[in-house]
Amino acid sequence: MKLILLLVASAAYICSTGAQEYKLVWADEFNGAGVLNDCEWKYEMGGDGWGNNELEFYTSHRPENGHQENGSLVIRVNVEPSGYGGRQFTSVRAITAKAWTYGKFEARARLPKGKQLWPAIWMMPQNSYYGIWAASGEIDLMENRGTQNNVIQGSIHYGGTWPNNQYSGSGEKEFAGIDFSRDFHTFTFEWEKTEMRWSLDGKVYHTENINKSMWSGKGVNPYTANGQPFDRPFFFVINIAVSGSFFPADKYGPPVTVDEAKKWEKPTMEIDYLRVYQK
Ligand SMILES: *[C@@H]1O[C@H](CO)[C@@H](O)[C@H](O)[C@H]1NC(C)=O
Ligand SMILES: *[C@@H]1O[C@H](CO)[C@@H](O)[C@H](O)[C@H]1NC(C)=O
Repeated sequence: MKLILLLVASAAYICSTGAQEYKLVWADEFNGAGVLNDCEWKYEMGGDGWGNNELEFYTSHRPENGHQENGSLVIRVNVEPSGYGGRQFTSVRAITAKAWTYGKFEARARLPKGKQLWPAIWMMPQNSYYGIWAASGEIDLMENRGTQNNVIQGSIHYGGTWPNNQYSGSGEKEFAGIDFSRDFHTFTFEWEKTEMRWSLDGKVYHTENINKSMWSGKGVNPYTANGQPFDRPFFFVINIAVSGSFFPADKYGPPVTVDEAKKWEKPTMEIDYLRVYQK
């Protein structure tokens, strides 16, 4: 009896002093050449608007829309005056083969500059375990509008199946003195069981408490425990969209035209790396 107590006490001692540290479990440093590595990535193709009335057609294995150069992945929106897949813009949207639950997710990137360009580094659930969007969740590590070059936002979507879903996040977060299209910056998302944190260049700018029921209160409650749906594996999505519902017409005007698009200052996003750390 005494011996058992001693063992329990000693285990507790080890547990309380052995701080868990993040270890790198996956990365793409984009140090290769050519298009994305097919073992790690899948291209999502098509031009049906992707639920947001987006104007681009996402291509697959097309170097002019996505290739590695100078140690970065370059995603480029091309203007296609004669059309491609029924659209006048092409871009890339790619997802990782692997998915993770909890951890630290980090991207170093330089963003586009131009009217109604919508770069995003985000995460979607591997399975619709709690139901269709957004019941099973969505995590937006970084979104930006190509004309607001000192603004990013981090968000989560959850709460129920559309239209009973909700979202929360940083909102438009302005960083004085920064031009995200000029220099590389580090975007970090830390996902723990009870809390999520979004950081820019190592400084936390937004925190979400997920130690609560994430149900919106509308429709059927898809959840049975705190923190759901953010207790399941999510994969990365990287893309640049063109126009769409991220640009409500009352605030941003009508969808961008080909003539306007020809004046985009920088229709590219360079991603130096994506890294995933877990404890
Ligand atoms: C890669 O480096 C070369 C040489 O410095 C430069 O001309 C080119 O613009 C760079 N490409 C990107 C995407 O930064
Ligand atoms: C999570 O919430 C429960 C109550 O719902 C509370 O007892 C617990 O301390 C919270 N955990 C953290 C880490 O905040």
